[in-house]
Amino acid sequence: MIKKSSFFTIKWTPEGIKILDQRALPNRVRYLLCAEPACVIEAIKKMVIRGAPAIGVAAAMGLALGARQMDTDDKTTFLKEFEALCQQFADSRPTAVNLFWAIQRMKTCAKKTPASLLKETLKTEAETILREDIALNRAMGAHGKVLVPDSAGILTHCNAGALATGGFGTALGVIYAAFNEGKKVHVYADETRPVLQGARLTTWELKQHGIPVTLITEGMAGTLMRSGAIDLVVVGADRIAGNGDTANKIGTYGVAVLAHHHGIPFYVAAPLSTFDTAAESGAAIPIEYRDENEVFYCGRKRIAPRGIEAFNPAFDVTPASLITAIITEKGVLRPPFKAAIAHLSTQTGVTP
Ligand code: MRU
Repeated sequence: MIKKSSFFTIKWTPEGIKILDQRALPNRVRYLLCAEPACVIEAIKKMVIRGAPAIGVAAAMGLALGARQMDTDDKTTFLKEFEALCQQFADSRPTAVNLFWAIQRMKTCAKKTPASLLKETLKTEAETILREDIALNRAMGAHGKVLVPDSAGILTHCNAGALATGGFGTALGVIYAAFNEGKKVHVYADETRPVLQGARLTTWELKQHGIPVTLITEGMAGTLMRSGAIDLVVVGADRIAGNGDTANKIGTYGVAVLAHHHGIPFYVAAPLSTFDTAAESGAAIPIEYRDENEVFYCGRKRIAPRGIEAFNPAFDVTPASLITAIITEKGVLRPPFKAAIAHLSTQTGVTP
């Protein structure tokens, strides 16, 4: 069994929204208390909280917090102000579609709720989104664990664990579920330049949960794969297009190419809220570009000369053809993904 979590990613408290400050990990466990929605928006932008599902939960809670502070009994005025706040959240980070999914869900909830109940109902809705996210991750784990052989060497990229979600995680959730069943696993975590989510967050989280982990730099993945140490790759996703093309942390595409070359299964684990069927293919997925100082610096230390340029897309797109299967809370999707995704939406009534 994985060890019980000693941390939480995000929580609603009477004083405001408490968010684990992921920028301080692994050296310090500290929480940021947001009493204003603007604080939550900044926390998303600055990656105090990050990971597609966690960003969605943060936006939902931030909107509920904003709703509490709106000083009107008139529903039309409320909806106008709420819409403006939704737009501010929507402008925080562009790639993870869970953000837009959560905003849409909060808007729908606001529209159908009577004025007198808006504040309480929106808070309940945000807390439901958090609770559901954890349940979905556990369901994903249950579907995905069968893909993990005993004594598996598993490579993962970035952080798609409890820290990136309401709890339990997507890609790491699959690993936790396999481990909980008694399977031996050994995780190889890509450090994930430039923000180092693998080195700082994935290794920390796995250690907290008692899972053996080895940190590698991205350049070491090919050598490890050729050595036979890796049985499978599992990663999370920020947005999955209707044809299965998957946006995830920059560097994921390279890992997928390497896995394909070495005949190693490459799995993506993501909830339905990460699917965007309005995007026909990966070409339609907006990619966030971040400040070039993330590349120029490692921690506080500058690692490149001044007077040059840096390229810093935060995400890349892995073509569906390189993905072995997509693990969702409803089951495991196999190629051709376009048909599998369309079938899933008719089966579940959920339009991803
Ligand atoms: O820039 P980040 O840290 O928000 O990017 C996170 C990722 O790319 C994760 O792999 C993805 O959001 C899935 S999290 C379950």
